[in-house]
Amino acid sequence: MTQRSLHVAIIMDGNGRWAQGRGWPRAAGHRAGMEALRRTVEAAPKLGITTLTVYAFSSDNWKRPAGEVRALMALFRNYIRRETAKCARNGVRISLIGRRDRLPFPLPGMVDEMEAATRDGQKLHLRLAVDYSGRDAILEAARSSVASREEMSARLGPDVDLVIRTSGEQRVSDFLIWESAYAEFHFTPRFWPDFGAADLALALEDFRQRNRRFGATAA
Ligand code: FPP
Repeated sequence: MTQRSLHVAIIMDGNGRWAQGRGWPRAAGHRAGMEALRRTVEAAPKLGITTLTVYAFSSDNWKRPAGEVRALMALFRNYIRRETAKCARNGVRISLIGRRDRLPFPLPGMVDEMEAATRDGQKLHLRLAVDYSGRDAILEAARSSVASREEMSARLGPDVDLVIRTSGEQRVSDFLIWESAYAEFHFTPRFWPDFGAADLALALEDFRQRNRRFGATAA
């Protein structure tokens, strides 16, 4: 049976190692990673995914060398310039999760415009996690005195069904820690720049074999 809503989250890992293995600068890996993201967004609705959340830049990534951070921010601007109109045409709504106040100018305004231009998209909700920390998101929500699990979920976002992490690492890395309470996990050794529609289909096939009990018995 196909689920009506399906939220997949991806930790896009391995860009640096992919590039270094070729003797290229890490930024080349991030550029190739952006292409992998475009392929994945295109494939997602065809595979029944309704919400896709991708980890593009964690709040801990500010600790990386300034040049790499600059390259990632430049890529983010590129992504918005190149993909906004296409996503709007194809029914993809894009939003940002994470802090916006530390993003360098002119990104905050560009993000607002991207969200406004794509807000009517019904085919896929693409959520870009940028300057994102799961712990900080929970802290921020708790400051507004949430009184129940439902209220917390309403503040943070929908529960995740499947988390995919590439590059052989098997960690959560502060990604959607409330929302993935009952998520299934799929790990693949493939580096993110090599990830494609076939890998996504394989991860979903794996997910559909799982017996999700949410703490109950199978009966
Ligand atoms: C992790 O690989 C990847 C990132 C920190 C950046 C992810 C960014 C993209 C996929 C492209 C940009 C897209 C947007 C929308 C901004 P890593 O660098 O940690 O790889 P490593 O573990 O091999 O060093």
